[in-house]
Amino acid sequence: MTTTYRIATIPGDGIGLETTPAAVRCLDAVAARYDLRLAWEDLDWGSDHYRRRGRMMPTDGLERIVGADAVFLGAVGDPEIPDAETLWGLLVPIRRAFDQYVNLRPARSLPGIRPVLASGAEVDLLIVRENTEGEYSRVGGRSGTGEHEQASQVAVFTRRGVARVTRYASELARGRRGLLTSATKSNGIIHTMPFWDEVVAETTSAGPDAPELRSVLVDALAAALVLHPERFDVIVASNLLGDILSDLASAVTGSIGVAPSANLNPERRHPSMFEPVHGTAPDIAGQGVANPVGQIWSGAMMLDHLGETAAAAHLVRAFERVLASGTRTGDLGGDATTDSFTDAVVASVETSAEEHG
Ligand SMILES: NC(=O)c1ccc[n+]([C@@H]2O[C@H](COP(=O)([O-])OP(=O)(O)OC[C@H]3O[C@@H](n4cnc5c(N)ncnc54)[C@H](O)[C@@H]3O)[C@@H](O)[C@H]2O)c1
Repeated sequence: MTTTYRIATIPGDGIGLETTPAAVRCLDAVAARYDLRLAWEDLDWGSDHYRRRGRMMPTDGLERIVGADAVFLGAVGDPEIPDAETLWGLLVPIRRAFDQYVNLRPARSLPGIRPVLASGAEVDLLIVRENTEGEYSRVGGRSGTGEHEQASQVAVFTRRGVARVTRYASELARGRRGLLTSATKSNGIIHTMPFWDEVVAETTSAGPDAPELRSVLVDALAAALVLHPERFDVIVASNLLGDILSDLASAVTGSIGVAPSANLNPERRHPSMFEPVHGTAPDIAGQGVANPVGQIWSGAMMLDHLGETAAAAHLVRAFERVLASGTRTGDLGGDATTDSFTDAVVASVETSAEEHG
């Protein structure tokens, strides 16, 4: 019997309008092979919606997608609208309302992509970014004028928030190489980061076969990720530090254009959301040259989350085969367009042998 999943689809802005339909084609192709139906519910939310209606999404936006099996997002951001409006008007409300407290961002070497670094070591790591609190808070404000003008921003860390993201990361590390690295900055940020360190250490040591925990200052960690990315397995980080480290890690593996992410509500009380790490890339938007791999791979993570592990693996193998054959978009030194790369992935999905879950 065909299984149907209802997917709320928000292409958003910029290259999101190009990569999302590209990934939808690939996902439909793989769904057809595994007797699945993806019922896409297209939502034109984003910066154009903001220009027309003064809001990034309708007032009842969250209610309209709460019943979906998953949310599939391109990217949001527009050079003419402050990022605080676009991000806090769409992305952040979805992450918070649906308690998507884990932002999972894999970074690994892909076939056919020449590593940026001379060492050429194989990279296979997972960044687990806390996604609902920390440095991204609304607490703070601006006051004063002239040279006395000032701004403050309060980072909010809770025991529950740090512990639950650490539990998720520890569990992942246990199922892999057993190494958990915690990104910190407790030498400079003297209240929240020592608290982060304490709760991470307590939570990690709690369970049986606890992973080996290393707490590393984020500046040293950034340097180590460039020099020896192969030494890392799972990295757990706060909202801001995880955001920065995941762009760095994906650039090390070849391009930010290939990096996927999942905003997860691990308890599955609410829908999770899948989106590439990259933004709207205004410098290349509208040219049809964006790399769709980050979006396609995010779609594979969505299938995996829905329990369709064989279909997810089939899709990953399909884009890996295309990359291995030398077909690449401009960010990776090739001349494929978004469409021609996508055509090749669809063909690879249709012609390759099925994976068994
Ligand atoms: N989750 C999101 O929706 C999200 C994430 C990051 C940034 N943004 C927004 O996107 C806008 C642009 O941000 P930015 O320029 O800092 O980051 P960006 O990720 O959009 O672009 C950074 C660089 O990487 C390149 N790039 C990104 N994705 C690519 C792809 N798929 N193929 C080829 N090249 C790619 C771009 O051309 C650009 O040179 C801003 O408004 C920002 O707030 C949104």
